[in-house]
Amino acid sequence: MDVVVVGTGYVGLVAACCLANSGHRVVAVEKDRVKLAALEQGRVPFYEEGLDELLQNALAQGKISFISSLSNALQDAEVVLLAVGTPSLPDGRVDLSQVYAAVQEIVQHARRETIIVMKSTVPPGTGRTLSKRFLAHCHVPIHYVSNPEFLREGKAVWDWYHPDRIVVGCGDETVVQQVLELYADIDAPKVVMDVTSAEMVKYASNAFLATKISFINEIANLCELVGADIDKVAPAVGMDQRIGPHFLQSGLGYGGSCFPKDTKGLDYVSSFNGYRFSLLKSVIEVNARQRIIAVRKLQEKLGDLHGKNIAVLGLAFKPGTDDVREAPALDIIKYLVDEGVVVAATDPLAIENARSHLPSCVKLSPDPYEALVGAQAFLLATEWPQLVALDWEKVKNLMREPYLVVDGRNALDVRRLVDLGYRYCGFGRPGNF
Ligand code: UDX
Repeated sequence: MDVVVVGTGYVGLVAACCLANSGHRVVAVEKDRVKLAALEQGRVPFYEEGLDELLQNALAQGKISFISSLSNALQDAEVVLLAVGTPSLPDGRVDLSQVYAAVQEIVQHARRETIIVMKSTVPPGTGRTLSKRFLAHCHVPIHYVSNPEFLREGKAVWDWYHPDRIVVGCGDETVVQQVLELYADIDAPKVVMDVTSAEMVKYASNAFLATKISFINEIANLCELVGADIDKVAPAVGMDQRIGPHFLQSGLGYGGSCFPKDTKGLDYVSSFNGYRFSLLKSVIEVNARQRIIAVRKLQEKLGDLHGKNIAVLGLAFKPGTDDVREAPALDIIKYLVDEGVVVAATDPLAIENARSHLPSCVKLSPDPYEALVGAQAFLLATEWPQLVALDWEKVKNLMREPYLVVDGRNALDVRRLVDLGYRYCGFGRPGNF
């Protein structure tokens, strides 16, 4: 099929490259000339496992091209996939300005029957609004389909080819079949429903996963108070097939471009519709509190934090990505700097992305050992395998008393660290205090 993809971020570029590698003819729209030039040369402007190869392969096969103007791309388009940003506004509302602008441009410039496939996460009801406001008045038929993505950063290419389900929200059976042609080579259940329900599936999925994380974080906090061990509790709870083992890792909580934005967005939609989504409000609150708990753990063990040296290991919101959006480490570093802490931080990939979000006094170093020199404590904020596998004997020689470890991801080997003389403090794990 002839597909235009609008937006070349984490979702758009993965979709464009995967569709091109499946044999579709893809034109991807990117307004930023610098990014456009990099993409044309086969360079992905962010880190995503396996994406470089897919891009280079698609370019070599002549299946993908890049363009800066959406209106110029529309000539042959059967399907226009929208993967533009839908960031959070300060009140939690979702900023749909990029979506509106793209839809308006399509309505004005489409020259043939076109299907708009919405990949961006938009609040339930958006498709209905767009159809009423824009699509009813076009000179050629334009169909609207909600087709949410469930791609994890760092695993997005794998997730594209191995989805648990493909959700298609559209009332027109012929259009549904055309959209499903995009996924002809993917073996997954195809679930068809109305537009608003499809939009809700995305929010409900992310809100539920966020709920699991905040729930297990509350259980971990309680484990500390009653003397239970979350490492024993969570796996046993997860063995119940009705619950499942995933998203039960306690620690600093969720970050990233989706969960924080989507939980707040759904909360806003609820309030806007006159409904108080109490459970979701608590999920958001618990997640914010976990970051403060990390600072309190440091404070409890070190006393007044002013003038203390603390290293933060990991800046990305999770391992396998250079993305620092809503990363717990960034908030925590700001709290620490406010308390007068001398902070050094490290990350295998995310330092450059983190730099502009951090106070200039934070010393950033790609070498974790350098970041740990003279530290009285460190916080593991991202469980990168290379950080978990540091030479802890060497680290101990670089650090200073009291050799405090706050393991924000419950990822370190407690026994080994304690044996080496560290003072260990996890989240719901018994430490040596
Ligand atoms: C998520 C969804 O998984 C994906 O389906 C959606 O489309 C986009 O948002 P992503 O943001 O890439 O993907 O990250 P994910 O792997 O889901 O993790 C989100 C956050 O939750 C991370 O900060 C991670 O550290 C945290 N997390 C995850 C936990 O704290 N505990 C867990 O048990 C699992």
